[in-house]
Amino acid sequence: MSLEKIQILEAEITNYAITDKATLENFRLAYLKREIPALMGEIKNIAPELKKEYGQAVNALKGLAEEKFFSTQDALENVSEAGKTHTIDFTLPTIPHELGTLHPITLVKNRVVQIYERLGFTQADGPEIENDWHNFTALNFPPDHPAREMQDTFFLEKDPDIALRTHTSSVQVRYMQNHKPPMRAIMLGRVYRNEAISARAHCFFHQVEGLYIDEKVSMLDLKQTLYHFAKEMFGEGTTVRFRPSFFPFTEPSAELDISCGMHNPKGCSLCGGSQNICKGTGWVEIGGCGMVDPAVLENCGIDSEKYTGFAFGMGIERITMLKYQIKDLRLFSENDVRFLRQFV
Ligand code: PHE
Repeated sequence: MSLEKIQILEAEITNYAITDKATLENFRLAYLKREIPALMGEIKNIAPELKKEYGQAVNALKGLAEEKFFSTQDALENVSEAGKTHTIDFTLPTIPHELGTLHPITLVKNRVVQIYERLGFTQADGPEIENDWHNFTALNFPPDHPAREMQDTFFLEKDPDIALRTHTSSVQVRYMQNHKPPMRAIMLGRVYRNEAISARAHCFFHQVEGLYIDEKVSMLDLKQTLYHFAKEMFGEGTTVRFRPSFFPFTEPSAELDISCGMHNPKGCSLCGGSQNICKGTGWVEIGGCGMVDPAVLENCGIDSEKYTGFAFGMGIERITMLKYQIKDLRLFSENDVRFLRQFV
């Protein structure tokens, strides 16, 4: 008898038309307040063997009524004055996805790799903690030569000397030891020098060095390679200048300057307007280069009678500062997102 009543109520609840708040309230009073509590009160009169089935049926009925009541209530509350439902406002702006940006040093490194890869240079890697032989001796730095001091080395251990590499030329040495000419490679990485930190100097920075060894490699190849690099990196019309210099591992050696383009008294496009890194000369230094000293080739097991080669080294920070007109080297390692976000 009572189970039949439940079935009747179930049909009624399912078919009950709720159109507004008043019919919703009537529904609530009829079923949630009256009929279902009454059925629950009946349970004490049900035969014990039927109690379980009855209880489950009443509970299911209650669930059905509640579900209908709450979902209809929600829908009615979201009806605007105009009678339209708008549970989702598609015109609201979405929550922005904060995307990271590549560090400017990484951007320039990637571009450097791209430019030299097209010229057939592969990438070589080596350790940042180096022994004396790879960082100095193999590169023709005589023992106690002031050039070792010139590089402001961070020594980690003495006798035998272990230090943080002062240049990526140590990777050139390792590369020459492990490969046979002809070879063309670039060495990119972090180097360390014991310098006071300022807008122009830091105790660590990044270098890209390059090495090309084959028969009959000449200074002309070096100049053409660096000229091509300057144009690709800084734009058509950029040119390079070589100034005689000295490095223990190259002979002849040169300092590498690039033209800073449209020069005017207020400053130039490359070296950053008013600050005038070129000091009014129209040229900015970006690295050193030269023909690999035959003694270095021999130290690394390469026949210097048969082969010649050129090498160059440039500061990635310096290139980045020129390219993006950044005035202070310290910005690169401070991780200020206001600075980093500018490089998209
Ligand atoms: N290793 C030199 C430096 O760090 C740069 C350089 C590399 C110069 C190769 C000449 C040839 O100062």
